[in-house]
Amino acid sequence: MMRTMSLLFSLALLAPAAAWAQTDAARGEKVYVAQKCATCHSIAGKGNQKGPLDEVGSKLSADEIRQWIVDAPAMTAKTKAVRKPPMRAYANIAKDDLEALVVYVQSLKKK
Ligand code: HEC
Repeated sequence: MMRTMSLLFSLALLAPAAAWAQTDAARGEKVYVAQKCATCHSIAGKGNQKGPLDEVGSKLSADEIRQWIVDAPAMTAKTKAVRKPPMRAYANIAKDDLEALVVYVQSLKKK
């Protein structure tokens, strides 16, 4: 009985955390659309085919993705990316939106 109770208690604690992660990626997807990232990138075939991001979450860490968003010119230099037009720095995205966008882009992984 006690074990069942504590199991139910842990589940009640975990469920909101899972729901939160879900909301974060969904919110990040909205930021991606609002910031018009698809002008130069595609996800699941939608957007600019020259810059697919479908598997970028398997390749880059959350920190690297965040760096691309806040300081693309530095990442362009670091990775010697040549595609034009180059990506600009999105320095004015609200912190919560930025973190949600990072969660979303990081969730794009090799199937
Ligand atoms: C003006 C075009 C342009 C826009 C708009 C743009 N990017 Fe980029 N982005 C690039 C280019 C060019 C690169 C260099 C890599 C390449 O050639 O795709 C890049 C690289 C990246 C990378 C690293 C990709 C990799 O494979 O290593 C990520 C992640 C990324 N962009 C995310 C975003 C997000 C998120 C947005 C919207 C906030 C955005 N980009 C908007 C042009 C753009």
